[in-house]
Formats: sequence, structure tokens, C-alpha cells
Amino acid sequence: MRKKKIIVTGGTGYIGSHAAVELINNGYNVVIADDLSNSLAGALDGIEEITGIRPQFEKIDLCNKKDTASFFCNNSKAEAVVHFAALKSVAESVEKPLSYYRNNINSLINVVEQMELKGIPNLVFSGSCTVYGQPETLPVTEDSPVKKALSPYGSTKRICEEIMQDTFNSDKKQQGIVLRYFNPIGNHPTALIGELPRGKPNNLVPLITRAATDKTDELKVYGNDYDTPDGTCIRDYLSVVDLAKAHVAAVDRLIKGENESDCEFFNIGTGKGVSVMEIINAFERATNVKVNYSIGKRRPGDIEKIWADASLANKKLKWKATEEIEKTLVSAWRWTQHCTEKGIL
Ligand code: UD1
Repeated sequence: MRKKKIIVTGGTGYIGSHAAVELINNGYNVVIADDLSNSLAGALDGIEEITGIRPQFEKIDLCNKKDTASFFCNNSKAEAVVHFAALKSVAESVEKPLSYYRNNINSLINVVEQMELKGIPNLVFSGSCTVYGQPETLPVTEDSPVKKALSPYGSTKRICEEIMQDTFNSDKKQQGIVLRYFNPIGNHPTALIGELPRGKPNNLVPLITRAATDKTDELKVYGNDYDTPDGTCIRDYLSVVDLAKAHVAAVDRLIKGENESDCEFFNIGTGKGVSVMEIINAFERATNVKVNYSIGKRRPGDIEKIWADASLANKKLKWKATEEIEKTLVSAWRWTQHCTEKGIL
């Protein structure tokens, strides 16, 4: 039987490359589109080494309508698109809001338009828990109100959700699933693919592994005076491999027509809140390596605490985060060591 073709945009990036692996491992034929603006083509070697299959790849900027059209012409028989390609730095989005609006929104519009023209019915979108802001009640469910975003990056995620909701309806035979990710961490256990942020990372775990590698690099804990048990912020950290598997579940659901509406939303998290200090302690315990850190000031715009109610995804997608946090932190550490040895980071 011919394998079902899935287009993965941003498939050489951090989450995209992990999703490509899981889709291939589940029998899909993956085609990657990426402009390599924040990733390396070397991710394709890693995907091939892990799965034994090298996905077809095209270097393409999905903001370019003509190039997007020609890419979709070549791949018009795809069953679904998993759309990761986007700019993702919160801080950069504050400095360059128009780049974020232009890039993240135009690329989604171009992709959805081409899907409609080619009759590709299914889209899985890479959403974010950032759309909830600081929720009134925790854990946060999919019914919690969506709030005004704290950054242009967050706004683009909310607007993209709205574009999907407004566009997808049965008449057009298009449907989608938005996966609202909580905080993905770690890397593939083989250390063959992983996170390669351009410049200095912004996210906690890459900063922890940096501060553990180079003792002159200090991690600042952004505030320990929050209303939480140890005073540091709380997030729902999930393994990127678990997160990648949620995309397979979403693609399966759409292809099998099991979705209950034309645009569904799922929280993708562990359901457990973990503080910044707990993460640092877990990292030190799991790797036996000390993290060079000190307590600093609060970061403007940070949310005090958020964690997911992921029961809808557990039930409807039949997906659950299973990786232990220590194991995930070890995978992050192994990837940093691998990159340091290879001189990539
Ligand atoms: C941030 C974004 C979120 C986005 C996500 C992408 C904000 C408010 N939110 O989430 O919209 O989807 O990145 O991955 O920016 N921390 C430190 N020291 C550091 C870095 C982080 O203490 O040097 C703390 C933060 O205060 C936070 C936690 O670590 O409590 C996680 O931070 P981070 O990895 O940046 O993710 P979020 O802020 O949750």
C-alpha cells in the first residue's frame, strides 16, 4: 500500500524534526518544507539515521506565494499538512513585530490557500498555551478564555487560530486541529536531532544546559517572589518526543475523520506544574552536573503559573505525555554535549 504523504513545514526545526521522525515511524511519507532560517539541513541526516528514511526536502519560504504554490503543485497528493514553520522568539517579536505578523500569518494564509486549491483537507497547527495568558483557574482547559497576548509572537498564534476557525467549514472540506503546546523540552534520546536556537537561547532548559557546560555562563532565575511554593514561576514542561507523538495522533484523527468539529483545540501538556527551581534541581539530580545560577529580577511579561488540563487530548487523541522529566532533562544534556563536541553550539 502507498504510504500517505504528509507535508511538514518547518520540518528541520526543533519540534518539526521530532514530529517528522514520529510520522515516519508511524508509516507516513514525510515531505519537509523549510527555509532553514532557524535550523540546519543537517536535521535531515539525523532523521534519516533514526528512521532509516530520508524525507524529501525543499528549501522554501512559505511567505512567498509563488514558491508555495509551486511546492504544493509538486505535492498535491498530500493527505495533510503539519504547519510548524514560524518565527518563535518572544523577545525578538517585541523588537520586530511586523516581521512576526508578516511571517507567521502570511505563511499560514499561503499554506491554507494552497491546501484549498489542491484539495488537501487536513491541517495540524502548532499552537501555544500563550493564548491563555495568566488563567484565572488552574489547570487550564481548552474552554478557558483566550486573552490578549503579551507579545506579538503570542498574537500571531491567536490570530492563526482564528484564521483556521474562520476558514475551515464542511463546505470547503477542510478541517484542522490546533495543538496548544505547553513547554516542550529535551531532545531525541539518540542525540541525533535537537534544538539549535539561533544566537543565545531564550528558553529555560537550553539556558540551563549552557550554564552547566560553561561555568562562566550564569543562568538568571527570573524572580523568586512569585505566589508559588518556592517563589519561582511554574510551567508544564513536556518532552518534545511526547509532543511530537501528539502530532501523529492529530493527523490520524483527521485522516480517519474522527474529529468532532472542523477546527478542534487540544492542550498538549503533562498536567503537572513544575517550578524553575524544581527544574534546576531535577537537572542536577539527573545529570550529576551543577548549574551555575543566581536569582535575578522578574522578567517582564512572565506568567506566574500555568499548567494544562490535558484530559481532552488524553481522551480524544488517545495521547498522553509519558516521559519522566529527569529522562527528558538528560536528553537535553546529551544533545548539548553532542553539539559542543561537534562545535555546533
Ligand atoms: C515562552 C513564551 C511563550 C512561548 C514559549 C516558547 C513568554 C511570556 N512566553 O514561554 O509564549 O510559547 O516561550 O517556547 O515569554 N526562566 C528563567 N531564566 C531564564 C529563562 C527562563 O528563570 O533565563 C524562567 C521563566 O521565568 C519561566 C520559565 O523559566 O518561568 C520558562 O521560561 P521559557 O522557557 O522562556 O518559556 P515561557 O516563558 O513559559
